[in-house]
Amino acid sequence: MTVTNLETPIKKHVLLAICGGIAAYKSAELVRLLRKQGCEVRVVMTHSAREFVSPLTFQALSGNPVHTELLDVEEENAMGHINLARWADVLVIAPATANTIAKCAHGLADDLVSTLFLAATCPVYMAPAMNQAMWNKTITQENIRQLEGCEVLFIGPNAGDQACGETGKGRMAEPAEICQRLLLESKSDILQGVKVLISAGPTREYIDPVRYITNRSSGKMGFALARAASRAGAQVSLVSGPVNLQPPPHLDVIHVETAAQMYDAVISRASKTDIYIGAAAVADYSPRVMEKEKVKKKDSLTTLLLHKTKDILADVAQLKNAPFTVGFAAETNDLAAYAQAKLSGKKLDMIAANWVGREQGGFDSNQNALEIFWKNGKASLPMTDKNQLAEQLINLITTRFNEKNRI
Ligand SMILES: Cc1cc2nc3c(=O)[nH]c(=O)nc-3n(C[C@H](O)[C@H](O)[C@H](O)COP(=O)(O)O)c2cc1C
Repeated sequence: MTVTNLETPIKKHVLLAICGGIAAYKSAELVRLLRKQGCEVRVVMTHSAREFVSPLTFQALSGNPVHTELLDVEEENAMGHINLARWADVLVIAPATANTIAKCAHGLADDLVSTLFLAATCPVYMAPAMNQAMWNKTITQENIRQLEGCEVLFIGPNAGDQACGETGKGRMAEPAEICQRLLLESKSDILQGVKVLISAGPTREYIDPVRYITNRSSGKMGFALARAASRAGAQVSLVSGPVNLQPPPHLDVIHVETAAQMYDAVISRASKTDIYIGAAAVADYSPRVMEKEKVKKKDSLTTLLLHKTKDILADVAQLKNAPFTVGFAAETNDLAAYAQAKLSGKKLDMIAANWVGREQGGFDSNQNALEIFWKNGKASLPMTDKNQLAEQLINLITTRFNEKNRI
């Protein structure tokens, strides 16, 4: 993979933390690529990392001294870790070892890299690299989930032949892939001053106080869109159904449970917003009555009477001051036809459709692919990480939003 040169190189401060794995040698190429894109790079290394590659290599490539010690007497106020954390626009831990991942997931701070992770307020990326058995170990996967909940963005690992002679998932993503991702997801100002409202996650339609009808939506796509819009400079409000995700920091998050609550939360804000993205999986039907007390087995409830819920997307698109309205469609068949019918039927500005019920992508997956339709146009975003996909979709929405506003 080659790195596509961006028209305007992004002058950003990249703090690159290197841990002790064979893939540490690949980070030398990463430093070179980042500098070529106009980034200033400072390197920190764990003690183990120094056993794999000499700090001198990174000093020469980055043009800056390499930091390895938490207790750095050279720094005038002995606060080197805080100064480095403040300096960084982005912290990239590549390769991220199982050990450092575990330490970060549990808030340990006993060396420079783990302390920097705690002190950093900028976006943090990790590119894990390890033997496939280490990667697949339940504890490692739990640590990854824990970090994802803390807004850590993962790049890779990829599958393939490993240095240990095994084959499987655990190879560090290629430097070009890491570099491309960092540049694509750089903070920009394309949505500066724009208000974006996003709805995400499932809804719960109560049968009685303990039972409800819901769906498999995890909210990951909506949350990724909220992060991407925020990074693009937008003022973001996120209306979220019940999900197991950490809300992105600095956003206005409104928690709801039912389709009716989501309707009220969205409609009351929609005419004051510039862009609305309906990424939530809102129930189409809700029980006509919610029983006040738990229905007992002996009551033999065998028929549930339902009523249709109100259509949030269609009603937003019909508001007098309707925002630029983007819908989502999850389909198991005839994706393009259903999506286009929804686009015109609900008078949306854009619709993002994805397949569900397939092996890859869709509900609860970290990956997805989207087919995007708008009046007289369409685009395909191939299967990739939902964060990356969100970034691409926000770019597309911004282009169409600007075009519509120019007309
Ligand atoms: C030759 C060799 C290769 C290693 N490669 C990896 C690796 O790719 N990923 C990993 O998580 N640990 C690897 N380890 C184990 C780590 O070096 C070890 O867990 C160390 O404590 C990591 O420290 P750090 O996280 O502070 O860098 C390797 C160890 C050796 C001896």
